[in-house]
Amino acid sequence: MQQHQGPLILLTGATAGIGQEAARQLAAQGATVVCVARNEAKARALVEELKRSSGNDRHAYLVGDLSQVADVKRVAREYRERFDRLDVLFNNAGALFVDRQLTAEGLERTFAVNHLAYFVLTTELLDLLQASGSGRVVSTSSAAHHQGDLGFLEDLQNERWGVGGMRPYGRSKLANIWFTVELARRLEGTGVTANCFHPGFVASDFASNNGFAAKVFMALTRPFQRGVSKGADTGVWLATAPELAGKTGGYYHNRKLRKTSKAARDPQAPARLWERSEQIVAELV
Ligand SMILES: NC(=O)c1ccc[n+]([C@@H]2O[C@H](COP(=O)([O-])OP(=O)(O)OC[C@H]3O[C@@H](n4cnc5c(N)ncnc54)[C@H](OP(=O)(O)O)[C@@H]3O)[C@@H](O)[C@H]2O)c1
Repeated sequence: MQQHQGPLILLTGATAGIGQEAARQLAAQGATVVCVARNEAKARALVEELKRSSGNDRHAYLVGDLSQVADVKRVAREYRERFDRLDVLFNNAGALFVDRQLTAEGLERTFAVNHLAYFVLTTELLDLLQASGSGRVVSTSSAAHHQGDLGFLEDLQNERWGVGGMRPYGRSKLANIWFTVELARRLEGTGVTANCFHPGFVASDFASNNGFAAKVFMALTRPFQRGVSKGADTGVWLATAPELAGKTGGYYHNRKLRKTSKAARDPQAPARLWERSEQIVAELV
């Protein structure tokens, strides 16, 4: 078990784009970053870089495929074995899938990676966040949540796929907001906060898993994309800024609280998603 000075932050999706930049910014601020990654070589290279640049040799990584609930649970177990506390859980890994795919556990992949991994990692580690006294959960959502609809609750496995994977993606980013709202409600009075954010349209590796057409789209739209530094900024701020203490249940962009879509403000949906997510995880055991 290792002892730590600055905040101890568990960060997913740290091997590229927004997460990688967030890891760098957090390490530069004195945090110890534990990265969750499916690609061990990329994780090792990043952690070595963070150790060199920050002079802190406690940065670490855990290997896991976040599309698999069993793997997410194993990562949570390994985290407990190696670390004595958790101050911030930063759920950031996410992807868009143009075609509908099922994971080995039979779940639609966008739902599994972009929502269920956030849900499982958080619920598995909630007691550690509570023990920290002022724990924070930060989740990377998106303005794409405006494309999510209440019908998602009746179609969590995205059988109504639509074109290009945007509906399932938008639904998953809506799920990040519902998850944040419900988590904040359940954690009221505990000192642990939950917030999410839209990073903007960011020049990252996003969508590069979808072949040539997606790469061309990202390249052509590059003039409209912001750099990763700006993209990561609001998430890093939510994770560490003292002025955020006690602020919970919010959706932020450019460090400002923003209004969410009508579906995101539905009063029943957050609890319904939470209960359905619990059921789905229980059925997998
Ligand atoms: N880019 C944008 O314009 C934008 C806008 C709004 C919201 N977002 C959100 O921002 C977050 C980060 O995206 P990004 O733009 O930084 O994309 P990115 O550059 O593609 O980075 C995604 C990260 O997630 C990891 N990841 C994906 N699937 C995984 C899995 N099954 N298991 C473990 N790790 C996995 C990737 O690992 P590998 O390195 O192994 O691929 C990578 O580290 C996502 O939640 C996305 O929805 C992005």
